[in-house]
Amino acid sequence: MSKKYERLEKCFECFKQKISFTPDIALVLGSGLGDYADTIKQEAVLDYKDIVGFPISTVSGHKGRFVFGYIGDVKVVVMQGRVHYYEGYPMDDVVLPIRLMKLMGAKVLFLTNAAGGVNFDYKAGDFMLISDQICMVPSPLIGENIDELGVRFPDMSNIYDRDLRSAVRKTAEKLSIPLQEGVYIQLTGPNYESPAEIRMVRTLGADAVGMSTACEAIAANHCGLKTVGISCISNLACGITDKPLTHEEVKETADKAAPLFRQLVTESVIEIAKLI
Ligand code: HPA
Repeated sequence: MSKKYERLEKCFECFKQKISFTPDIALVLGSGLGDYADTIKQEAVLDYKDIVGFPISTVSGHKGRFVFGYIGDVKVVVMQGRVHYYEGYPMDDVVLPIRLMKLMGAKVLFLTNAAGGVNFDYKAGDFMLISDQICMVPSPLIGENIDELGVRFPDMSNIYDRDLRSAVRKTAEKLSIPLQEGVYIQLTGPNYESPAEIRMVRTLGADAVGMSTACEAIAANHCGLKTVGISCISNLACGITDKPLTHEEVKETADKAAPLFRQLVTESVIEIAKLI
């Protein structure tokens, strides 16, 4: 058994000792969106710090716990706070929670984040369904492959599952929530980008920029978790306006968008559950 899998199994054993709940859908909540977990029907909560070997997030606005419960009738595990590469963790730590949620039994991973709008058509407060991604941080699959989870050279041609995307699109339409669709690019952060970097990523084909998600989506695809993702465009990326960016602004916009976001995620989860 690989060392990485051994560590994962230890976390899983720890989870099993404390929680008996098998989620169908796993959700990750981004900056400013964490409060969503407080609105679902909760069955149990597990703090990251109570899982031996689990990396702990240090970003303010991220709570740091798994919430188990129901969205409608759908069994979910919600990550309230994620682990970022810019915090200094190795990639194996960054994606460990994703792999752990796979072991918990989740079949679908629903990723959310706050992101900067790169596409000139986007405005702050928009939602963007992630159609594809560009990962500008090291792949989380570098190093010994975890054969127990997936193959050495996994396909990435459908990272954000077509059918799941279609379900979210239909849901947004039904709710009359405008939904952009585009490519998410992950840079390391923690600094926001320079205007030249934003011009570069636009040239590369990105519509939104952030500091999470892409590496998580790679790990999810590797271990066979079907993935879907929505970005909350919390600000226009650097250089589009001449206003300096702050984390407070990002959180504030995400907070304002939270009620609509909650609606979109809730109904999308219920729709997606019909597909699994
Ligand atoms: N850049 C990178 N990450 C972000 C941004 C941004 O403008 N907004 C929210 N997360």
